[in-house]
Amino acid sequence: MLILGIESSCDDTSAAVLDDHRILANVLNCQDALHAPYGGVVPELASRRHLQSIVPVVQKALEEAGVSLADLDLIAVTRGPGLIGSLLVGFSYARALAHVAGIPLVGVDHMAGHILSVFLGEVRPSFPYVALIVSGGTSSLFLARDMHDFTLLGRTRDDAAGEAFDKVAKLLGLGYPGGPHVAKAAAEGDGRRFRFPRAWLEEGSLDFSFSGVKTAVLTQLNQQRQGGGEIALADVCASFQEAVVEVLVEKTLLAARRQQVTTIVLGGGVSANRRLREVFAARCQQEGMAFIAPPPQYCTDNGAMIALAGLHRFTRHGADAGDIDVYSRSPLG
Ligand code: KG4
Repeated sequence: MLILGIESSCDDTSAAVLDDHRILANVLNCQDALHAPYGGVVPELASRRHLQSIVPVVQKALEEAGVSLADLDLIAVTRGPGLIGSLLVGFSYARALAHVAGIPLVGVDHMAGHILSVFLGEVRPSFPYVALIVSGGTSSLFLARDMHDFTLLGRTRDDAAGEAFDKVAKLLGLGYPGGPHVAKAAAEGDGRRFRFPRAWLEEGSLDFSFSGVKTAVLTQLNQQRQGGGEIALADVCASFQEAVVEVLVEKTLLAARRQQVTTIVLGGGVSANRRLREVFAARCQQEGMAFIAPPPQYCTDNGAMIALAGLHRFTRHGADAGDIDVYSRSPLG
């Protein structure tokens, strides 16, 4: 089955063509440079850029896959959650394309795409598994029982993990998006130098909170600046990263133990973080659990995961009616 997947929920325009689970093309137009001067995604700019990129991105995906519109069996598109203006560009285009070409359309939840993106890699999990989805807008834990059944176990109460990385990078005058810059600086630093707070919240809670650690970094930087010495950039980054990684890993392990599952899966842009993968791999080995992360290009927002989630949705529920709409908050939680 040939599926075109279209993703435009935030600041990346992406289109992919899959032949069942086999990826024939996955094209991405990343808007990082556009938003960098503002230190975050500017919704109005994002949707305007999607308007410019959607047609060439889809055309390129079809070309790379060596297929034409008429060959497609299904179009899958992100319905939400995300920025409404951004979502509407990909969604309206996909709906028009499906209508004109007489191809069935399915609307896909972006979170479902991330939860299932691990199936785009070579090592695939068996169900059930616990998925930690960590990006610029999300830090959530899900129990995945099968390709359709996802239960929210915990979520952030304030900043998402990626947002915390971005904000700390901004405090340090590093570039945007901040995650890769902080991670790079952290690689040279001592993660035990500063003991930043770990927000465990109430006993046994699977929710996250990252605003406190960001404030603690600010306080530490202010102290260092007042002291007149040089900012210990690498050590601050490494210590901040340790604090975030420890909470993400330990809460995910707690969720897995509680659900009595032995497989942990990662998804979302922050899962590109090498230290996070390292600590997960080590702790899962200690606990006798399997740990699987998708290849980095499928961690970030991408059309391939939408095509894959769309295929499974279509197989179970068939095509969506023509009157479905986009949404900003996921029904998955
Ligand atoms: O899933 P994603 O590409 O899209 C959005 O949420 O928009 O995630 C982007 C987020 C950003 O906050 C970025 O700083 C973070 O993922 N990120 C990282 C790393 N690479 C990207 N965070 C920590 N370490 C990284 N290596």
